[in-house]
Amino acid sequence: MSRKTVVCVVGTRPEAIKMAPVVLALRSQNYFDVKVLATGQHSTMLDQALAHFKITADVNLHIMKEKQSLDHITSSVLTGAGEYFDKIKPDAILVHGDTTTTFASALAGFGRKIPVGHVEAGLRSGNMYLPFPEEMNRVLTDRITTWAFAPTELAKENLLREGTSEDMIHVTGNTVIDALFYTVKSKSKNSCSELSRLPEDAPFLLVTAHRRESLGKPLEDICSALTMLLDAHPELWMVVPMHKNPLVRETMRKHLETREKVLLCDPLDYPDFVWAMNASKFILSDSGGVQEEASAIKKPVLILRDVTERPEAVEKGSGILVGLDKEKIFSNAMGLLENKNLITEIENKCNFQPFGDGTASIKIAEALKGYFEKH
Ligand code: UD1
Ligand code: UDP
Repeated sequence: MSRKTVVCVVGTRPEAIKMAPVVLALRSQNYFDVKVLATGQHSTMLDQALAHFKITADVNLHIMKEKQSLDHITSSVLTGAGEYFDKIKPDAILVHGDTTTTFASALAGFGRKIPVGHVEAGLRSGNMYLPFPEEMNRVLTDRITTWAFAPTELAKENLLREGTSEDMIHVTGNTVIDALFYTVKSKSKNSCSELSRLPEDAPFLLVTAHRRESLGKPLEDICSALTMLLDAHPELWMVVPMHKNPLVRETMRKHLETREKVLLCDPLDYPDFVWAMNASKFILSDSGGVQEEASAIKKPVLILRDVTERPEAVEKGSGILVGLDKEKIFSNAMGLLENKNLITEIENKCNFQPFGDGTASIKIAEALKGYFEKH
């Protein structure tokens, strides 16, 4: 049997972290010739994430612009990925998640009748504007794909309800758990300069926020809730690795820059972020990936969103959906800070891994191999 060429597409930090184990799993089998196409929707954050897994992109389209529009990302990825596919003529394309890179590169594959596999298929919030534009990106990408790699049974049910035929769906677990296990094995202590000001054993909360729909007033409210917490608990520290989006950074700096116990820092390398998740008292975040990781390590996470496409994180994991109201964020965080039993209750609830056991990437590689052996 001839080797099959598979292009794995990545554009942003979470795609890199969650596609990296797939790249490594495919490369571990001689059967595949694996190429990595970076769109460069994120510049530094993408490179930072890939470096941890020792993956170098075969080509980088470098499309990122400051404060870029969705039109810019869509059109430049569609054209750039299309040109690369014309040159390489891959047997399959793998995309991950719900970014505009995901959808536009899947569309470029569809336009050339190249089969597309969607890693992390089937997530749904049920609201096309929450998260925006991710929910639409997921739906459109799932219409295009030949292989839907669903992380959970619930994601599979979402796909079946929309008419995806069962033989196209493979429930694999989420590849973020593979990435997490890989990372925990490789490093367990933080050594980064960003965190050097944090006293040893200081109690701290870990905070991230970046969503497009949270920019403006919702993010202002998140920051106000954080300052209310700092006032109520003067012993408390906060680690806030700021997303590179200037709109996020401006707001965070405005509210938090003068607070002595707040470490407003650049995005952390993945191993340091994993260290911070583990060492924190709990996490506040609007991130998708962090909901999954926090559940896997049994760390409470206050989800700073009104809906989640990862209900497993709330029902079976460590997530608490608190919304974007500053009083609600504050009162939920105070509840966790002042009632230790609540944290133990959450830890006890996470008695199995809703997002898989760290073998998702191997399952994806096996499914692709099985397909090509038959076709
Ligand atoms: C993107 C994805 C979102 C995903 C998030 C992960 C889209 C539309 N959004 O959102 O689904 O959850 O990534 O973080 O696909 N920037 C830099 N350097 C970087 C990265 C970003 O300077 O390394 C700045 C640029 O000014 C850029 C802005 O951040 O224009 C926004 O980046 P963009 O990819 O458009 O949106 P995100 O909010 O990062
Ligand atoms: N992450 C990281 N460094 C940071 C913040 C987050 O490595 O400073 C990781 C985090 O562990 C998770 C991923 O980035 O795996 C989430 O990315 P993001 O929140 O940007 O995107 P989302 O998951 O919301 O799409």
